[in-house]
Amino acid sequence: MIYNSYSAFFAVALALSGSASARPARFGRRAAFDLANGQAAIKLNQQFATLTPTSQCTEGEDACVNGQFAQCANGKFVLTACGPGTVCAALPLVNSAGTSVTCDTQADVDARIAATGATSAGGDTGTDTTTAAADTTTTAAADTTTAAADTTTAAPPAATSDAATPPDNNNAGGGSATGGDLQDSLTLDPNIIQTTGTGQEPPVAGQASALTSKNNFANICSLGLPNVPITNGLQLTGGSCNPIPIGNIPSIQNVPSSKFQSPTNGETLKANTPFNVTLAVKNIQIGTFTAATETYYANPQTLNAQGQIIGHTHIVIEAIDALDSTTVTDPLKFAFFKGVDDAADANGQVTVPVAAGLAAGVYRMGTIMSSATHQPVIVAVAQHGIVDDVIYMTVQ
Ligand SMILES: *[C@@H]1O[C@H](CO)[C@@H](O)[C@H](O)[C@H]1NC(C)=O
Repeated sequence: MIYNSYSAFFAVALALSGSASARPARFGRRAAFDLANGQAAIKLNQQFATLTPTSQCTEGEDACVNGQFAQCANGKFVLTACGPGTVCAALPLVNSAGTSVTCDTQADVDARIAATGATSAGGDTGTDTTTAAADTTTTAAADTTTAAADTTTAAPPAATSDAATPPDNNNAGGGSATGGDLQDSLTLDPNIIQTTGTGQEPPVAGQASALTSKNNFANICSLGLPNVPITNGLQLTGGSCNPIPIGNIPSIQNVPSSKFQSPTNGETLKANTPFNVTLAVKNIQIGTFTAATETYYANPQTLNAQGQIIGHTHIVIEAIDALDSTTVTDPLKFAFFKGVDDAADANGQVTVPVAAGLAAGVYRMGTIMSSATHQPVIVAVAQHGIVDDVIYMTVQ
């Protein structure tokens, strides 16, 4: 992805400030890839229905075999039973093109696939082993036509009265007492009001009192207006107030983590010589980023079907005085910066070239793990290891 200079951002800010709100909302609308994701999930589930524990597989491949979660290791499927009440299935990703394989309730599998507009011949989600392959072809063609119509009209799913179908709010678990399209409503859903107190009832020495709100701080940014602009998808260099909720937070099993594989800490590199940075990550789906100059901090954090944050990471390299320097760095100065565009490979790794190498000197290199709209990743608990990695290296 391209990160323009600050002055460029400012120019963009001026040019777009009048039209930024005209962007179509992602929530409550189908994205162009939704239908294809749904169809791909159906097709995968149909393929999974033909697999047995001894079927040939590709290293690292995830699948479902006999309703169990299956991972290919050493040329063989290793099966893990799904939890009670859940089945293994391919699900459409919600925020990017693709599918994921996970254990889920049948109702949620059906709802997520139905929400994409994709259907198989039997109206099922592909987990029915009796669905004929010939039917899939026919259905795919019909669905393609539907996709075009949806793109034009942004029509909500037809089956809104079906209790198994989630409201058109991109949140399979989010029911609503009020009905209608909550994602277009300017009224808060009474079911989602956060009711935490100040944390000081009774007071605890040393702790600050938290603010409370009756409306999830929905209008918090009006306090600062007109002097503080609303964070509007641009990278407002003078500061701003962001009214967007934090969104989905992964379970404690899905706190992201990362470690540089190359260079390694303390390594000495040759000056002005190209090198590759290789980073390993886990518990995060990297490779998804939205337009950094139009949608910065514009969406809540979202998770994939495995409950991992959908986002991306960055590599930043800063020159420092010495390996044991204690000088606090200038965060606006860096020798190299790259948003990592790629998804992790089967080993959970990505490689970023530093094509010009680095001038002689001492450097620290770190990651910046982010959600899709570039905000730092938010995790379930306060006490956890560092999600980012930092190493130090000498270039000579
Ligand atoms: C970096 O990695 C790419 C892809 O693996 C490889 O083609 C290239 O030669 C590597 N560059 C260096 C300097 O090692």
